[in-house]
Amino acid sequence: MSFIYLDNAATAYPKSDYVLGAVISAFKQCGNGGRGGHSLSVKATETVFACRVALASLFGTEPERVVLTCGATAALNIAIKGLAPERGGVLCSVLEHNAVLRPLYTLEGVRLDFFAPSFSSQKQSLKNAVSAIKEDTRLAVITAASNVCGMRLPVKEICAECRRRGIVTVLDCAQTAGHISVDIRELGADLICLPAHKGLGGPAGMGALIVHPDSRLRFRTLIEGGTGEAARDRYMPPYLPERLEAGSCNILGIAGLAAACEELSLDPEREERLRRMTVEGLRSLDGVQVYGADSDGGYAPLVAFNITSVPSDRATELLEQRGILLRGGLHCAPLAHAALGTGRYGCLRASFGKSNSAEDAEALVDAVRALLKQNTF
Ligand code: ALA
Repeated sequence: MSFIYLDNAATAYPKSDYVLGAVISAFKQCGNGGRGGHSLSVKATETVFACRVALASLFGTEPERVVLTCGATAALNIAIKGLAPERGGVLCSVLEHNAVLRPLYTLEGVRLDFFAPSFSSQKQSLKNAVSAIKEDTRLAVITAASNVCGMRLPVKEICAECRRRGIVTVLDCAQTAGHISVDIRELGADLICLPAHKGLGGPAGMGALIVHPDSRLRFRTLIEGGTGEAARDRYMPPYLPERLEAGSCNILGIAGLAAACEELSLDPEREERLRRMTVEGLRSLDGVQVYGADSDGGYAPLVAFNITSVPSDRATELLEQRGILLRGGLHCAPLAHAALGTGRYGCLRASFGKSNSAEDAEALVDAVRALLKQNTF
């Protein structure tokens, strides 16, 4: 049966043949990067470097400041635990994903200072963020856009305020990378964390930590091991990216990510049109509630909603029977759900990617309308 895929915030689908071709080539042609001088090792080393160059150019840094990780969660853990202050406060929002919250909850000796954003005004969100900053705030870890409702936070302005006060800033760009322009110099963040497999359209199991070109941050290491160089040293090298990349790399993922970056073409206006059509279409139906969709600050291309008479998990099954694939339930961001009023049962989330069209957004609204008409859940 054919289907319409609207779960791109979980992972982009379909991935391109170009990305697949790069993964297959690496599988057949690459040795272990940086681990020898023979031709297969050199091919792998070149592939890794090409990936760093592609990411550096997309995200506004230098290739040596691109740390390749096994996902955005790993990048966030490396950043949070590698830079955690010993005391003082850490600023974060209530929209954070568990990939931010759970590493933060493990920190000892620090206080977490949460701010709740406004769901309508960026100016108010900024005010709320600034009010949560204390004299002893040392680190800020903030999502660029909620993975539940898509709302973007005024991260550029928050980073500027933090920079002024000497607070290190880490942005979770899991839902913006590959959808809108994300340039670390323009954002003014110290670090950004991103996955390969969402907006960028690369393989799962890959991600990156992007370090600002002017950063002088020194990271504690979470994982130690071989780096292919300085092998006599007892400890990990002090320089990037090797300091944070122990062990043989995921060359298949890296090759796929490099290819994905190469063919990436941003089209935020088109994705925003799909999001807006969906919000308007769903709002025109009695019995549907849309969450957090009225901000003046922009969105990642996704919509949170519920069919009010149907639990979201059940609604995903009913929508799949009508050929629409999307995610329901809780989306690993419990405080965001609480703020949106969906803390108990979660919500449906329709999320758009490169392959979606206006017809897909219309098909979703039509399927929800048909479900409401059918009225037997
Ligand atoms: N973090 C991904 C999501 O929001 C998996 O669905």
